[in-house]
Amino acid sequence: MANTKQKSGTTTTNKSTATKSASNSTQGSNGNSSKGSMLEDFVLDQLKDIYWAEKHLVKGITKMQKASTTTELQTAFEDHKAATETHITRLEEAFEMLGKKAQAKKCEAMEGLTKEAESIIEETEKGSMTRDVALIVAAQKIEHYEIASYGGLVQLAKTMGNNELAKLLQKTLDEEKETDLLLTEIAENNINWEAEQEAE
Ligand SMILES: [Fe+2]
Ligand SMILES: [Fe+2]
Repeated sequence: MANTKQKSGTTTTNKSTATKSASNSTQGSNGNSSKGSMLEDFVLDQLKDIYWAEKHLVKGITKMQKASTTTELQTAFEDHKAATETHITRLEEAFEMLGKKAQAKKCEAMEGLTKEAESIIEETEKGSMTRDVALIVAAQKIEHYEIASYGGLVQLAKTMGNNELAKLLQKTLDEEKETDLLLTEIAENNINWEAEQEAE
């Protein structure tokens, strides 16, 4: 099925079909026929996107951590920076699983999201609770982008019959979801209320 599709594809797809045709013929019978397919190319492309995004995010989180008012938020950013380093290592493992070299491709969305976080830092007062509220909102937008990316990748890995890859990426997906919840908790517990009390 995947082979038929590839024959009508672009030059690049045909090239990858040529290099992968040997493995296709051996794996086609066990349901792994998407190896070397257009779908695998798409998954690889998405991995390159999120790999760039996570690497870029390490710098972004550092800036957000330094700009935070409360120690609670600073610690949350510090912890998530460490988690982000793990996400990068996991993505390198994912590339390896697919027999590819880890490669980053610029993610315009993450660049935009981190730029937005930077302008929040410029536009809010240092040491204010409003700064923390704004940083939490910016961080949650980032987390939601990551959740959507990893969620999609886990689904696609399952579609490809690559459960090992799905399991690996699921770990990161769970951690991104936990961080999102933690940020909500931090905001709801104190910060939102205190920001509301803050004088103009
Ligand atoms: Fe991440
Ligand atoms: Fe994250």
